[in-house]
Amino acid sequence: MRGVLITVEGVEGSGKTTQCERLGQWLHARGFEVVLTSEPDGTRLGSAIRGLFEQESGPPTPLTQTFLFMAARQQHVTEIIRPALQRGAVVVSDRYADATLAYQGWGGGMDLETIRDLNALATGGVTPDLTLLLDLDPAAGMSRIGGRDLDAFEKMDLAFHRRVREGYLEIARAEKNRVRVLDAARDAATLHADVTRAVEELLERRGAGRGA
Ligand code: TMP
Repeated sequence: MRGVLITVEGVEGSGKTTQCERLGQWLHARGFEVVLTSEPDGTRLGSAIRGLFEQESGPPTPLTQTFLFMAARQQHVTEIIRPALQRGAVVVSDRYADATLAYQGWGGGMDLETIRDLNALATGGVTPDLTLLLDLDPAAGMSRIGGRDLDAFEKMDLAFHRRVREGYLEIARAEKNRVRVLDAARDAATLHADVTRAVEELLERRGAGRGA
């Protein structure tokens, strides 16, 4: 596949959405076809799945959560990501396969090997070229999002979110070539500069320093 897949991960309130948007503008200005997308809601099916986590009742079991996120992922790869990569686009996804390892695995206690196997099936082997982990103390993240309506995960206790953060950092330690850890406690402009530096390095490695 000719395109590039960049995923952005982090705990609640780490500023992923802002950074994805700014990265999208930066890539677009350099002439790339950019596809900005997100999980679980990158497709209609995924949006419906996200809706299930916005209800008043608590979240379903971690295994049920895993199946739901995997279903959203398979549909996302099939409808959005793979076609975009085949066109040669740069795809930026706000969360992807690592989120299930961090949230349902480290956070929820699901077996990590099972999640890896299911991720392999759901993605059909479409793995990110670069993952930007916006690392932040979950307490700081939760205070950033304090004002808005919280979904089932945002309502989980701090201990859960600390396990999620640790999970992400474990993934980063295990896959240093793919995952870049960025300190998300800093202001958005400083973080954006780090994001673009990491993406520039990737594009140079891929021999695609400039868009078409
Ligand atoms: P967010 O990306 O807007 O924060 O919302 C997505 C929520 O869904 C977030 O709380 C994390 C959660 N989530 C999982 O628990 N597992 C997953 O695999 C994905 C994609 C998201």
